[in-house]
Amino acid sequence: MKQSPLTHLETILPDIKKEARKLEGKTVLISGGSGFLGTYINATLYLLNKKVLRKKCRVVSIDNYITGFRKNFLVDLENDKNFHFVHSDIRLSSSLHDDVDYIIHAAGLASPYYYKKYPLDTIESAILGAKNLLELSRIAKPRSFLFFSSSEIYGDPDPAHVPTPETYAGHVSSIGPRACYDESKRLTETLCLVYHQLYGTPVKIVRPFNIYGPGMRHTDYRVIPTFLYKGLNKENLPVHDKGNQTRTFCYVTDAMTGIFKVLLSGKSGEVYNIGNDKPEITMYELASTICTILNNGTKPRKKPYPASYPAGEPQRRCPDLAKIKSHLGYTPRVDLKEGLERSIAWFREEYNFK
Ligand SMILES: NC(=O)c1ccc[n+]([C@@H]2O[C@H](COP(=O)([O-])OP(=O)(O)OC[C@H]3O[C@@H](n4cnc5c(N)ncnc54)[C@H](O)[C@@H]3O)[C@@H](O)[C@H]2O)c1
Repeated sequence: MKQSPLTHLETILPDIKKEARKLEGKTVLISGGSGFLGTYINATLYLLNKKVLRKKCRVVSIDNYITGFRKNFLVDLENDKNFHFVHSDIRLSSSLHDDVDYIIHAAGLASPYYYKKYPLDTIESAILGAKNLLELSRIAKPRSFLFFSSSEIYGDPDPAHVPTPETYAGHVSSIGPRACYDESKRLTETLCLVYHQLYGTPVKIVRPFNIYGPGMRHTDYRVIPTFLYKGLNKENLPVHDKGNQTRTFCYVTDAMTGIFKVLLSGKSGEVYNIGNDKPEITMYELASTICTILNNGTKPRKKPYPASYPAGEPQRRCPDLAKIKSHLGYTPRVDLKEGLERSIAWFREEYNFK
């Protein structure tokens, strides 16, 4: 029988159950709560309320909908009295209340297409958003503060540092076409650590590596939703340039396990890679894998980079997960084929492909 993405998400509860008890009766504030990952974080909190917590947690979810969607596609939370959705911009501090126990700063422009289109919003949402939330933390004294940085802070890593550990300082341009994203994430990491050093703010930083799954819409323009939409539409899959760039892909439910472990049990002032370290595949191989699963005659097609895509993309990307595995017992469980099949099932239904 076909399972829903919410049912798949429920399978992570045993892995986070123990630390999740810390959320009993607490309030969680999340920025970017209507984005791809925010939607899953809210749905995980809903499942924890339903299945694990003896006293439910309360959630305040802020989003300006620059790329996010009001409706949570996993579960309808509009009428759940434990969830409060605020249409506001995290750059504005007036929308923030000090009665919070956990703060998650996930607002941002995550897709290269959108950060090229909105470079100033990208910089400000990371830095000013974090500054507001860190200032709030000085009053609210949360138990934990989680910032969503990115694997992009490593830039185009020296191959000697792939798989890339948290200690790698990065190979990044401050004035290149991707700088608005990479450098604002880097400075926000610095800002978080300064608040930790000066005020004892319990900050944790995650650097996600290409998370994907149901709910990522084709208008997001990241690689997997683009390939799935084109493929299901029986178009060939546009592989940028020679297609030799590598990535690793982490299914979203695995990412949620890592995110909740870091939020609830991570060490303050520490940074954690989150992703799946296997397989590191080229974009041509990814396209071929998707064509094989779809089995509808579509093929990978090499194409020049489109003008809408920021130049200078990293050639390799693969996380060293030793730290999060050994410190927090994180293990990714969903392999690429299974994750792609689940994503394809959602795409078929969402966009009415036969
Ligand atoms: N998904 C990944 O693979 C990945 C990888 C690395 C880093 N990240 C980071 O994780 C976070 C979440 O990523 P995602 O994939 O859910 O991205 P997303 O674009 O789907 O969601 C981000 C959300 O933030 C909202 N937002 C943007 N600016 C805002 C502002 N100023 N005020 C309020 N809301 C604002 C958007 O409307 C959107 O709903 C981002 O910060 C992203 O940079 C994600």
